[in-house]
Amino acid sequence: MASGQLSRAEALACSGCRHACHVMLYADTKAQLFGRIPIKHIILMQMRFDGLLGFPGGLVNPSKETLESGLTRELSEELGLALPISVEDHVDSCFAPASSSSSSHLITHFYVKKMDEEQIREVERAAASTAADHGLEVLGMIRVPLYTTKGGGGLASFLSHSFIGSARSQLVDAMLRFNLVTPGELHKALTHSLKTHAHTKQDLEAALALMEERRKRF
Ligand code: APR
Ligand code: MG
Repeated sequence: MASGQLSRAEALACSGCRHACHVMLYADTKAQLFGRIPIKHIILMQMRFDGLLGFPGGLVNPSKETLESGLTRELSEELGLALPISVEDHVDSCFAPASSSSSSHLITHFYVKKMDEEQIREVERAAASTAADHGLEVLGMIRVPLYTTKGGGGLASFLSHSFIGSARSQLVDAMLRFNLVTPGELHKALTHSLKTHAHTKQDLEAALALMEERRKRF
């Protein structure tokens, strides 16, 4: 087991710990972007209320519910569907980095569930129509681009966004674990992503300079 990781049983034995459960829902697809770039797999993530990318799910109280039933409860709020999640879907549990806003340890439990393409579409429809959290804690569901376009767009650009907690590592680990991209493709995307990130820093600095100049004028 990698450092920082716990078994599900060890995690549940931690007294005074808080628990959060999140799930990666995915499906295979034959769809092609522009009629020529295979999409291969649909992976669902969400734009959260805090502007960060993450997986659906949330805080669970193991003294009142199982981790999996708590996750299903969170999914009904965030996705508008009470998707059953089972112990077999559990991938890993680990301590989240210490936060300044809470003194108790947070353990994050990660699950992966494979669905049919039509089921994924149903989740997307429900998340935008019946989910109680739509437009509030969840700003929208998004799909992860797993391909790389001629100009280098796709997975590399996606990975250079900002993610909550360890969601980026969870995504990378799950893509490898479930053979959704090859290690070579992932390595290339992450290397490219680091360069994109440097451009993002420059863009942000330029936006800040622009804003300061405007502020002086108005
Ligand atoms: N890796 C590590 N930590 C994560 C991950 C992740 N992939 N995803 C979320 N977290 C952390 C978040 O930072 C948060 O502290 O887990 C905790 C709970 O996850 P959420 O999905 O944010 O919880 P949810 O129950 O949906 O929302 C509850 O959280 O920040 C508050 O006030 C906010 O009402 C909201 C509350
Ligand atoms: Mg949540």
